[in-house]
Amino acid sequence: MSAQDTRIQDTSAQDTRIQGIAWEELAERFGTPLYVYDGDLLTATAEGLRKALHPALEIFYSLKANPNVSVFAALRAGGARAEVSSLVELRTALAAGAPPEDIIFLGPGKSEAELAACLDAGVHAVVCESFDELDDIERLAAARGRRQRVLLRVNPALAISGSRLTMGGKPRQFGIDEERVLAAGDLTARYAHADVAGVHVYMGTRILDAEVVEKNTRYILDLADRVARATGIRLDTVDIGGGLGVPYFDGERELDPVDVGDRINPLLDAFAAAHPGTRLIMESGRFLAGRAGVYVIRVRYAKESMGERFAIADGGTHHHMAAVGIGSFVKRNFPAALLSERDAGPPEPWNVTGPLCTPNDSVLKQAPLPPLRPGDLVGILNSGAYGPSASPGLFLSHGFPAEVLVSGGRAHLVRSRDEPDDLLRPQRLIAPAEPPTEFLESGRHP
Ligand SMILES: Cc1ncc(COP(=O)(O)O)c(C=O)c1O
Repeated sequence: MSAQDTRIQDTSAQDTRIQGIAWEELAERFGTPLYVYDGDLLTATAEGLRKALHPALEIFYSLKANPNVSVFAALRAGGARAEVSSLVELRTALAAGAPPEDIIFLGPGKSEAELAACLDAGVHAVVCESFDELDDIERLAAARGRRQRVLLRVNPALAISGSRLTMGGKPRQFGIDEERVLAAGDLTARYAHADVAGVHVYMGTRILDAEVVEKNTRYILDLADRVARATGIRLDTVDIGGGLGVPYFDGERELDPVDVGDRINPLLDAFAAAHPGTRLIMESGRFLAGRAGVYVIRVRYAKESMGERFAIADGGTHHHMAAVGIGSFVKRNFPAALLSERDAGPPEPWNVTGPLCTPNDSVLKQAPLPPLRPGDLVGILNSGAYGPSASPGLFLSHGFPAEVLVSGGRAHLVRSRDEPDDLLRPQRLIAPAEPPTEFLESGRHP
């Protein structure tokens, strides 16, 4: 078992402490519901992935998985660079100290303000998703009298099965279809300021099979060569996507970065030898952040309904939408554990629900947990990616929870909890117009 695997065990089920700090202490200090991230594990995961993969392959963290500035800073300490998709993510990456040459910007509907910010910051590359966007980059770069490196995002003709959500091989808003790119003709002279000099492909997410990563990588590296031959562009940078997963549900197994390395490193070696100087990029969000986060909720009430046990907690799916069930009709449970320090008792099936007025607010369904009672802390594990920022936190006006990063045995608040005033402040009360008197008199309302 590698050092990294050992650390993964550290935060797993039934552990009542994180880096020596009791969960109960964190809950009391910061309140619940609460997201807690293991900063040391974030850094170790980024380092471990980098070390397992070819030295020429740079790991870019997809901030969409968890955009907290301190989460990214912990990953950066492990050597991760930044892949961003909005103005705020760009500013977050810069605030955490990422140099512009270690930032790429992608997304299918970039605004002019976003493109302008990329140009002004001097990011390594804008990943361009349509020919119209390329025209926009050309115009904005020309207005600034400079050139901006652009990677063409290609929507591959092939979808490789094994990803829980495939992006390629389908009509998609992402990227430009492979056949259109290959038929685009010479792109070298067409743009004076948009410096098209690379290829980006993202095949899908939640991949837990190293063989699928290998097939994707083989396809993408070959496609990059075909695009370069067909369009004449340089390959300054090739981004092979990623989509490495973490196990959430029963029967899913850890993806071992060493297995991934064993399979893709020879491909990268051959490509790097044939293309000296080309930057090779892998993007990763979930794999880097997923295992390092725990959603901590406190049971408010425990009761039975028609033969099933319910623990109603202070946090729910408005902070953890993924727990509802990602793309599946059958509810499957994230790994979970009782975090309170007490004699637990034998597991029995529990439904853990949140405070929302919808039956969909089901965090765990018939999950094997010790007998729960009010005041207990329950942790939803492997929850560091696509948590609050990918959840409807404003539903029922609860707002977003506090977020804490534990690093070197010390806990730091890295996002404060939304307070009622935070939610009410942006709203404006408009006095309703007076109804016309004839309606009032007649009793009819408009
Ligand atoms: C283009 C692109 N890159 C990176 C990511 C991050 O994926 P993951 O969190 O699976 O690593 C996504 C997620 O949807 C994506 O669409």
